[in-house]
Amino acid sequence: MARHAIAGIEDIPPGGRKIVKIEGREVGVFNLGGTFYALKNVCPHQGARVCLGKVSGTTLPSRVHEYDYGLVGQILRCPWHGWEYDVTTGRSVFDPNVKVVTYPVAVEDGQIFVSI
Ligand code: FES
Repeated sequence: MARHAIAGIEDIPPGGRKIVKIEGREVGVFNLGGTFYALKNVCPHQGARVCLGKVSGTTLPSRVHEYDYGLVGQILRCPWHGWEYDVTTGRSVFDPNVKVVTYPVAVEDGQIFVSI
């Protein structure tokens, strides 16, 4: 596994993202409240560039006639068919076995590193 410097922390502000190419793979690097996450830019459904999707929240399990919306700013919605993934884990919200590939991220001296 090699470590790659992909950007300075000032290049991806909180709530932002950057798509980078590492070893021939597209990777989306997201800043969620100052913590960085890296996801492969491939949806496990039909291969869309999932990291181009909208980041929002999702409906949470709730009682009948109740509507709970949560995980705001943490859910990535695939632009093709709307499957939703938790940016912090890559797991889908409907089945934890369906997952976008994730990569370790480290921050040192203001620089973001992704290991692939
Ligand atoms: S390709 Fe992503 S939901 Fe279908």
